[in-house]
Amino acid sequence: MSHLLKFFSSEIGIDLGTAWTLVYQKNRGIVLRIPSVVAYDIEKKEVIAIGEEAKMMYGKTPEGIVAVRPIRDGVIENLELVQEFLYRIIRKISKFISPILVVGVPAGANEVERKAVIDAGIGAGAREVFLVPEPIASAIGIGLDISKPKGHMVVDIGGGTSEIAIISLNQIAHQNSIKIAGDEMDESIIEYIRRKYNTNIGYLTAEEIKVKIGNAYPSENEEYVEISGWDMIQHRPKTIKISSSEVREALNSPINQIISAISRLLEDAKADLVRDVLENGIYLTGGGSLIRGLDLRIQEELNIKVHRVDYPLETVVRGIGKIVDNLNKFKPLLSKSRKILKSK
Ligand SMILES: Nc1ncnc2c1ncn2[C@@H]1O[C@H](COP(=O)(O)OP(=O)(O)OP(=O)(O)O)[C@@H](O)[C@H]1O
Ligand SMILES: [Mg+2]
Repeated sequence: MSHLLKFFSSEIGIDLGTAWTLVYQKNRGIVLRIPSVVAYDIEKKEVIAIGEEAKMMYGKTPEGIVAVRPIRDGVIENLELVQEFLYRIIRKISKFISPILVVGVPAGANEVERKAVIDAGIGAGAREVFLVPEPIASAIGIGLDISKPKGHMVVDIGGGTSEIAIISLNQIAHQNSIKIAGDEMDESIIEYIRRKYNTNIGYLTAEEIKVKIGNAYPSENEEYVEISGWDMIQHRPKTIKISSSEVREALNSPINQIISAISRLLEDAKADLVRDVLENGIYLTGGGSLIRGLDLRIQEELNIKVHRVDYPLETVVRGIGKIVDNLNKFKPLLSKSRKILKSK
């Protein structure tokens, strides 16, 4: 039986993010990129949709149906929903009965959180589940050679968390993770507009403003977006024109918190590794890193060179992909993660 399983098995890598889930299939590349959202019927206890279709229902569901993100701050919040989410993903991309999964987990995930990922994978039909710390996957995805005794710093600003890590000799030497990232930036924009204009806007609008004119460093051309929201004093709809300087002001607090977290990690890290980071610079990745001028801002405040990477939304899954393609070579890297055979 186990021979047969091996024959039918395929290898799949998954970056289970708070905002986006990306899937890599061995020898095929990235095969899926969907919002990490599940819509389900509360009474029937049935999943109705996942991904894009479910995200469109976000905040617009009729009674009895909810659309939720089952992953919060990078870790599983609702095991059953994540299991169903993974099950549908596996079915979508592979007819094979029982894949091997390689899944990224936050560097700071505890035993319970790591076990939840394994349980969800096995429950979704995987034969084995390997875990890889996301900063390691990111560094491999960026193309850094992390096998040498040299410190590399990767800062991954995602939706739920910003993960900051110094990696050397294929391991995480120091890490710091804060729950301030893209989502928190959206919150800050909502809060700013509520305070300044007495107007309520939703999450999707805030994210749109951030993506269009979000910035962290002053620039000569001022840009604007027009948005409509609900005026809480006049009790009617209102259109406001928001400028890029205003958005920068709104984003100040989350961005400063991210910069403080980087500087705290450098203070706590071993001096020789810090020296390597000062030499090599900081690698900035994750969707949240796409804020314009964020590299310049960090560079100026910490006086360290900051590199942007080519595919910030994909570095984790690209790294996981390299691991999936060379599972035997990378197994020692995954040795700290638990491998559970279904038959056990
Ligand atoms: N051009 C852009 N400018 C600013 N922010 C962006 C841009 N594109 C995407 N984002 C933000 O990036 C975040 C998603 O990034 P990413 O896909 O790396 O997160 P994730 O891996 O799902 O989350 P996490 O790593 O925290 O679990 C969202 O908050 C999104 O709004
Ligand atoms: Mg991520």
